[in-house]
Amino acid sequence: MDEHLENALDLAARLIVESTYVVALTGAGLSVESGIPTFRGEGGLWTRIGEPSMTGYQEFLADPVGYMRKQRELESGPERSHFRAAIERAVPNEGHYALAELETIGVLRMIITQNVDDLHIVAGSRRVTEIHGNRTKMRCIGCEERWTRRQFEEMHEGRPDCPECGAVVKSDTVMFGEPIPRSVLVRCFAETERCDCIIVAGTSATVYPAASFPETVKAYGGLLIEANPDDTPLTPLADVTLRSSTARSLPTLVERVRALRRA
Ligand code: APR
Repeated sequence: MDEHLENALDLAARLIVESTYVVALTGAGLSVESGIPTFRGEGGLWTRIGEPSMTGYQEFLADPVGYMRKQRELESGPERSHFRAAIERAVPNEGHYALAELETIGVLRMIITQNVDDLHIVAGSRRVTEIHGNRTKMRCIGCEERWTRRQFEEMHEGRPDCPECGAVVKSDTVMFGEPIPRSVLVRCFAETERCDCIIVAGTSATVYPAASFPETVKAYGGLLIEANPDDTPLTPLADVTLRSSTARSLPTLVERVRALRRA
């Protein structure tokens, strides 16, 4: 490990141990070592096939069953089926386990993740807010009730109306143009307000409102630690930059935090 990264890890560990409410904001980069491609940058899914249209959610509302049929046809395309296969066989990597351990030792209070791959939960993290939803779940767009896909299919044989309130039920994954579920957004803002140190790991920080949370923490006088092999729009705001893959930097960061807490 190069000396610059070593020094950055020492400083990041010290800032974390000196803070009182540490939150992590994670993105697709965290799951790269789990075999899931990112969305942007080299090899990213949107880089290859273009970003989905922002009108997708309106098209879904107009004709849920027709829209889902069209989506299933799109999903059978080579690019999306490759991405889907990757996400279905993915298991957590060292970066996910490192954040779960930071929670276990009482340092990390919340993970706000933009990922829908469920890997933080599988890795053992319990305090997780999934701002873009979770691909393994279904959600009612009216009352925000959630079920696993299997539960909902067993209950409803695919009819898309909510047994609680009658509104439409869709994948919990937030679509382009779909509002972030209100209860999730409220929790994200509450966590951000309490946060005095945010670890921004594996995200291009280009999608809002998620990218606004680190800006808010800095505006309130908090600390920003960025873990990413590349620069992002947040890099100039970072107090420390861990220029490495998160599967490599986060486990070492946890070791340094443990060592400082024993000292
Ligand atoms: N470790 C850590 N970070 C990495 C790694 C790695 N091994 N490899 C790449 N990265 C970084 C890239 O440098 C980039 O900054 O991960 C980031 C991935 O950026 P995006 O592909 O834009 O993913 P993300 O930031 O999560 O996108 C946000 O956009 O399309 C929506 O809903 C989608 O949740 C997603 C949101």
